[in-house]
Amino acid sequence: LASSDLPMASFEEIQGIDDAKLEVMELVDTLRNPEKYAILGARAPTGLLLEGPPGTGKTMLARATAASAGVPLLYCSGSDFVEMFVGRGAARVRKLFERAARLSPCIIFVDELDALGKSRDAGGGIGPFSRSNDEAEQTLNQLLACMDGLDSSRRICVLAATNRKDVLDSALIRPGRFDRIVKLKLPDTNGRENILRVHCTKLPGFQEGSGVDSNRTGSLGKGRRVDLAAISVMTEGFSGAELEFLVNEAAIRAVR
Ligand SMILES: Nc1ncnc2c1ncn2[C@@H]1O[C@H](COP(=O)(O)OP(=O)(O)O)[C@@H](O)[C@H]1O
Ligand SMILES: [Mg+2]
Repeated sequence: LASSDLPMASFEEIQGIDDAKLEVMELVDTLRNPEKYAILGARAPTGLLLEGPPGTGKTMLARATAASAGVPLLYCSGSDFVEMFVGRGAARVRKLFERAARLSPCIIFVDELDALGKSRDAGGGIGPFSRSNDEAEQTLNQLLACMDGLDSSRRICVLAATNRKDVLDSALIRPGRFDRIVKLKLPDTNGRENILRVHCTKLPGFQEGSGVDSNRTGSLGKGRRVDLAAISVMTEGFSGAELEFLVNEAAIRAVR
């Protein structure tokens, strides 16, 4: 439950999701420089929800925020609060917010929010190992109560991420809770090229060039030089995580 357990990342490494990056950096700024916003009468947002397909960089954004925010980031995953016994999950939520109050100004990051924030009328499933509905509901209610208890003097922001906003309880996205929602999309051609570059330039011996060998079909470069623009055109629909995987596969093949 601490940011020190998170491998670090930098904002420069995150490509193709500039809107989300800017929103998160602005949120950090409201925590660090509240005076600036107070002049204009603006209240810092309580909650920011990052929503988007798997592998688009949501967890990576949390890592970059932890590394560079200059305020502590308490990282946890929605599944950390999933318990079998009624009241346990709620107690964990309370503890988290108590800890945040001691560390403030700080950021709470709840990754995979859907694991704890599922709609209360969606049911908890059936069978001997299904989580009790009461437990899930109490945990969610506790989160709502804790978020309502945050006022701007507390200087605590809650960031969260989900692949599945559709299953979230609508109470979570009311004003004063996760009132800012940032949609992350799969990267476009330019975004993919930049993501490929981030991951390729970490490989020793990688050489980038522009232009392909017109004598070979399917050529992706000239000689030892790889044309990342050519690859990005061919990888429509790939997420950042899939592009990273592709680079890794290519590196393994290069060794063979
Ligand atoms: N926008 C991006 N820019 C650069 N690398 C990315 C991006 N999105 C994903 N990746 C790569 O994929 C990995 C997994 O992404 P992750 O942040 O876990 O996605 P999510 O949490 O949205 O499912 C990252 O650690 C990173 O190496
Ligand atoms: Mg993630």
